[in-house]
Amino acid sequence: MTNTQNKLWGGDWTEKKLLAFTKYVEAYLTIINKYKNQNKWETIYFDGFVGCGDRGLSDNIKYNNNNLFHTFKEYNIEEKDIIVYEGAAERVLNIENKFNYYYFIDSNKDSIDKLKNKLKNFENNDYKLEFRCCDANIQILKLAEAMKTNNYAALVFLDPFGMQINWKSIEQLKDTRTDMWILIPTGVIINRLLDRNMKLMYIDKLETFFGLQEAEIKEYFYNEHKETNLFNETEIKARKVEKPIQKIAKLYIKQLNTIWKYVTESPLILRNSNNVPIYHLAFASNNGVAKKIASQIIK
Ligand SMILES: C[S@@+](CC[C@H](N)C(=O)[O-])C[C@H]1O[C@@H](n2cnc3c(N)ncnc32)[C@H](O)[C@@H]1O
Repeated sequence: MTNTQNKLWGGDWTEKKLLAFTKYVEAYLTIINKYKNQNKWETIYFDGFVGCGDRGLSDNIKYNNNNLFHTFKEYNIEEKDIIVYEGAAERVLNIENKFNYYYFIDSNKDSIDKLKNKLKNFENNDYKLEFRCCDANIQILKLAEAMKTNNYAALVFLDPFGMQINWKSIEQLKDTRTDMWILIPTGVIINRLLDRNMKLMYIDKLETFFGLQEAEIKEYFYNEHKETNLFNETEIKARKVEKPIQKIAKLYIKQLNTIWKYVTESPLILRNSNNVPIYHLAFASNNGVAKKIASQIIK
């Protein structure tokens, strides 16, 4: 474990997520490095939601807010709601073995500028750092184009607060040499969108996220039954499934399996301070050994 990984700043679940991820990156680079003379490809690290490098929001503001799709810049942030931790970008750059290219993406210009400044000591001629202020979905499509040339192997980290990742974007990574860790906002957002009576206000968002049609989503998360009302009329009522948070993770993993051959069946469960699952961190790859390593780290 590197020195930087010992700094236990910030929320427990944030640290747990970043520790698991960094551990995998270390293993990935060790293996790539071992075979570097045989490999005909260059390596890419792609972080689609990189942040500013060291600051995020506490559970308090993230999960008690009704504006489900807003990025944290739009919140009225108070100092007490900010936690400080070492972000993934710096942890990855601190690993001894290196990628050929590092792509750091964030839609917030202030965050990207701050990160670029923070990481300037890592500038080096042996590898290239690229900072882009852009929607991750657009950059994923560009990555997918590059991956289809077969000249690269990429490790992708997608760590958004919410449901920003469109299914149509990651779908383009099919049949490429891409390993991906992805954060699924199971408990914190999706479960809240699946209301008890199947009146899905954000169905378009759910469709874009899962890459499924309304009818498929409803069928998966609701059981319909007949009830007789006071006027002796028969009504069709819907009941939300039991253990919806686990089911959300399961469905997303099933979808990931349509793109990647190997996906962790048991993702890392991240819980808030009340022990409620808020996110699931899943791993996908076309390489069976990679999945084995990721599963061991999760365990
Ligand atoms: C959870 S933070 C990332 C934390 C980071 N992985 C770390 O280790 O410190 C999520 C980031 O995603 C950014 N973001 C939100 N929507 C985005 C989008 N559509 N494309 C790219 N970045 C986005 C936010 O500005 C925020 O900085």
